[in-house]
Amino acid sequence: MELQANASLAELTSLGIGGTTDLLGIKRHEAIPELLRLLDFHGLPHSFLGGGSNLLVRDGELPWVVLQLVSAQPEVVLEGNLAHVDAAADLGRTVTYCAKHDLGGMEGLIGVPGTVGGALRMNAGAYGMQIGAYVREVKLYRAAGRRLETLCRDQISFEYRHTSFAPDDMMLAVTLELPSKPYKEILQGIRICNEKRRSSQPLGQKSAGCIFKNPPGASAGRMIDELGLKRLRVGDAQVSDRHANFFVNTGRATAKDMLALVADVRERVQKAFDVILECEVVVWNA
Ligand code: EPU
Repeated sequence: MELQANASLAELTSLGIGGTTDLLGIKRHEAIPELLRLLDFHGLPHSFLGGGSNLLVRDGELPWVVLQLVSAQPEVVLEGNLAHVDAAADLGRTVTYCAKHDLGGMEGLIGVPGTVGGALRMNAGAYGMQIGAYVREVKLYRAAGRRLETLCRDQISFEYRHTSFAPDDMMLAVTLELPSKPYKEILQGIRICNEKRRSSQPLGQKSAGCIFKNPPGASAGRMIDELGLKRLRVGDAQVSDRHANFFVNTGRATAKDMLALVADVRERVQKAFDVILECEVVVWNA
């Protein structure tokens, strides 16, 4: 373990929002069951942090410690069409590495920030694909059994931005089975997705990606846009003027600002469309 006392979650999240707490970097998976047993024994609550790119953390001193995996080296080991990937590996780097070895399928995920473990836990997806489609096996710490386990594909269900993992399960490693494709062809797909993303999303600003899930058959971004809410703000938290489902931190936004903006937009959408938008970002607000 590596202990960083008084770590700032604002510095560890793409939104740049969040209070401080002790951060424990985990170097060996095998140490996790004992670590969690000790935390329990001492009555210390905890949360797992991935890449911090889909997370809104409350302000102030957090009443729990944060655990984060320190990435193993090498992050990716290839074996034919299988990619064995450490959960702490950067998602974009993993997609690129596999592409260079003629393994495709994940082109749509290229611009999605975060770790492979984070993408896996919420079945991240874009441009018609979701990571779950390529999962063959997952190594994880299961809080229920308090031990490390390996689950095969048919023991896990992957749905739109949702998986059957328990909230306190911790992703450790995944084996992906990827289709063979020439690098040049994958690169072409990557370029197209990058271009679409650049033209529609506020990439240069601090955000957590889309703040709400799309309700069945509809687009949260389009509904918010139709209500003319682009640029609506609470403090430095603002609805992006580029994509209305991205809420950005334009300066020194607090979690309080961002949550007030979320509540305001949700209420207006409910009034206008009779739809209750569900958060897509994970909120740590205990
Ligand atoms: N639209 C507007 N105004 C806006 C935003 C969008 O009219 O401000 C319209 C677009 O013109 C389009 C439709 O709404 O006709 C859908 O927009 P877009 O193609 O941008 O997709 P999205 O449904 O808003 C989803 C994912 C994104 C993913 C893109 C591309 C969710 C919540 N969002 O966005 O994922 O990058 O498709 O596949 O599922 C994320 O998960 O954080 C995320 C950004």
